Amino acid sequence: MADTPTPTTDLRQQLQGLNLYLIGPMGSGKSATGHAIAQRLQYRFFDTDTLIERIVGKAIATIFAEDGEATFRQIEQQTLSQLAAYQRSVIATGGGIVLERNNWSALRQGVIIWLDVPVSQIYQRLMADPAQIAQRPLLQTPDPQAALETLHQRRRPLYEQADLHVIPDPADSAETVADRVLAALPTALRDPRDRPAPPDPSQN
Ligand code: S3P
Repeated sequence: MADTPTPTTDLRQQLQGLNLYLIGPMGSGKSATGHAIAQRLQYRFFDTDTLIERIVGKAIATIFAEDGEATFRQIEQQTLSQLAAYQRSVIATGGGIVLERNNWSALRQGVIIWLDVPVSQIYQRLMADPAQIAQRPLLQTPDPQAALETLHQRRRPLYEQADLHVIPDPADSAETVADRVLAALPTALRDPRDRPAPPDPSQN
């Protein structure tokens, strides 16, 4: 007798191998949530920042300090375009991935999920662990919360281009957010021909 399909089996079939890309501000829980989604779907999990650190052999903060943000963005773009060749993967991206227009061609090959966590909540979360601030070069200012706000104002219209918008509750664990993403995912699956053109980040 054939196994009864579980909701996740159905979802895997509906996804037809599409990758899932998590976008959103730094500290929004993309890595932890992505990891939990990958486990549930039995997908591979990748984190663009972790891959970049492995490829370059330096921490993200060191790449920014020694090579500059523009070089980091180039490596980020190459890393993302290489990941787009995979299937059945969940990919947690860096908060600035939405800035490069070319990145949207890679993102649009899969399903783009925006974890929309308010800046005030992110700031509290990051402040609870000083290493979280220290490892993020764009927060090395006297007022990291203001820096987060400024980045978010510019990027929010880009995050809004995602296929799926999820607002995690502050009390939600990564597993709960993953379950909410999976429950909402069927609403985001549509004919690839209906997908909108990539946004132009220079307009923001
Ligand atoms: C960045 C976010 C970071 C990392 C780099 C730049 C950004 O990733 O890619 O520090 O521009 O928002 P997380 O979003 O995982 O913190």
